[in-house]
Amino acid sequence: MSNFFKFFCWLFLFPLFGLRAEAHLDHLAEYDAQTCQEVLQAVDLPTLWNCYLKGQTDLYFEQEAEWLSQKDSWTRAQNILELGSGNGTYLSRLSETFKEKTFFGVEKQASFVEQSNAQFSRSGLTFIEGDAETEYEQHRNQFDAVLYRFTLQHLKNPKLSLELAHQYLKKDGYIFIIDSYDPARISSHKIHSFEDASHQHNERNRAASKGNRRITIEILEDLQAGNSSLSNLYEVAHTSLDIQGNRLEKGIRFESEQDRKRYFNHALLFLSILKKGYEVSVDLSKAYNELQVYLEDKTAWNCPGMHLLILRKI
Ligand SMILES: C[S@@+](CC[C@H](N)C(=O)[O-])C[C@H]1O[C@@H](n2cnc3c(N)ncnc32)[C@H](O)[C@@H]1O
Repeated sequence: MSNFFKFFCWLFLFPLFGLRAEAHLDHLAEYDAQTCQEVLQAVDLPTLWNCYLKGQTDLYFEQEAEWLSQKDSWTRAQNILELGSGNGTYLSRLSETFKEKTFFGVEKQASFVEQSNAQFSRSGLTFIEGDAETEYEQHRNQFDAVLYRFTLQHLKNPKLSLELAHQYLKKDGYIFIIDSYDPARISSHKIHSFEDASHQHNERNRAASKGNRRITIEILEDLQAGNSSLSNLYEVAHTSLDIQGNRLEKGIRFESEQDRKRYFNHALLFLSILKKGYEVSVDLSKAYNELQVYLEDKTAWNCPGMHLLILRKI
């Protein structure tokens, strides 16, 4: 390619393709490997995150909502705070499903808050900019439940955040934590490129002391040993994993045709985020080929490594 042509592409063609590529991010299963990679390369990181969070809600929501609706602590809760509400897709789905409750989302990224309010805010659903690790006097004794969904793992000081959340809860309030615990992931078919990338990512995070995808097990260990600052604040009301990370319940499982297709899409977006945002080396073409099994084999299934943990305020 001549230098002039390269310059022309960067200036005019690739940005245009980026705009169009965004519209295809939900349909990666419909493309061949080459197109899929081009689409993923053409979009920027915030766009990937936005689409990933939407896809994650679509993929997990029904099973999570069913799990929540079986818990008395959830059905009784009226006023719910989510810390780290992202682009608001998940909280909006909760608000549509549990219409009698009111939801309040707090999110650090201003652009997400703006987008959430523009797209979803309505009576009983509000989003504000804020920090899960900063104390807000106005939240004191306001909420029946505080929810952390895939957020605790990103916090610098998750235990401080849980201490603050304790003050935001009313008497007899509950914390609902939905977060990753990768070793609990089981599936009909191993996707080696996915396992390698997530291993690399976790190792780097560990070395840099940031992003902890085993934080929920640490909290469980602390509470069961009774030797942390949280022990005087909470007791475990429900856990889907024991402290060794063994499953205590069936948990979330993707096996329908729709879920397998969504999982394919979700896994490719996740790997692209690791590649673009965290400089993890990922072979997208290998991942595409390995993930085909979820499109082609009707018996394929995947249980993501997740931990569902409920804490009761003492
Ligand atoms: C993986 S996303 C999950 C978003 C949402 N809970 C969901 O399930 O779709 C994690 C979110 O936490 C936000 N976050 C990270 N640190 C935060 C903090 N200290 N305070 C508030 N939000 C934070 C990030 O900006 C991001 O939007």
